[in-house]
Amino acid sequence: MADVWQNAMEHAVAVARRAGEVVREALHHDRKVMTKSCSVDLVTQTDQNVETLIIQSVKEKFPTHRFIGEESVAAGEACILTDRPTWIIDPIDGTTNFVHGFPFVAVSIGFAVNKEMQFGVVYSCLEDKMYTASRGHGAFCNGETLHVSQQTDVKQAMVATEFGSSRDPEVVEKIFSSLRNILCIPVHGVRGAGSAAVNMCLVASGCVEAYYETGIHIWDVAAGSLIVSEAGGVLMDVNGGDVDLMSRRIVAANSRVVAERIVMEIEAFSPPRDDTPPLAP
Ligand code: IPD
Repeated sequence: MADVWQNAMEHAVAVARRAGEVVREALHHDRKVMTKSCSVDLVTQTDQNVETLIIQSVKEKFPTHRFIGEESVAAGEACILTDRPTWIIDPIDGTTNFVHGFPFVAVSIGFAVNKEMQFGVVYSCLEDKMYTASRGHGAFCNGETLHVSQQTDVKQAMVATEFGSSRDPEVVEKIFSSLRNILCIPVHGVRGAGSAAVNMCLVASGCVEAYYETGIHIWDVAAGSLIVSEAGGVLMDVNGGDVDLMSRRIVAANSRVVAERIVMEIEAFSPPRDDTPPLAP
């Protein structure tokens, strides 16, 4: 990461911590739940408030920067990544967890320049774990260096994944078929934290050897992708090609050998890309 972005990263850590306080406080109150694309794609007023808080605070310091925010896109803003400095924000990654009080809820802030991640901050706010990474300078959790697991035998691996929010029977069938294939490699176990950002940080921490999912969005994984690669991990598409953060598909693993073995068992499908313009009314 160019030193010029050091200030921006410090600001991201500070605002993520403030956002986490808002999330923790909101857990003591009733959470009015609304839905987005379908009845299980949840959003709350807290998601919207936290996104506004982050964007306003960044705009004050960096008025020329651009934003991709989950709730701004849900409200109709375009999801476009240009070469300009861009903050990629998920105010609450793990909204369903937040709604149910399930304890993995993260504020995720990634920062890209020339379409390349420069730093990533994931604050798992109920665990009070601040994960950070900057390009070329490693990955950390609460200041401690992170490193992916050294285990390259997939049969000794723990794998993380999620079921996502599509209930389309064909999609559910593919998700279960991939899950069955991977479970029966066999791997030691399959887990899911309910937050893509936290799952990525678990790969970076060495607790799980791989995480894969189809259906995530760029704001779920932008920050986590740099945290994984700076911890020594690899990223790829579910078909084994290069990862494309707009494609809504990702495999993050401790090594190429584990990632490629997982890819062999995934039934790939392609949800509409994040950067697909909405259909005209
Ligand atoms: C979701 C979480 C979940 C994953 C979904 C994401 P959100 O993000 O990361 O674990 O399965 O694909 O959309 O909606 O809570 O920000």
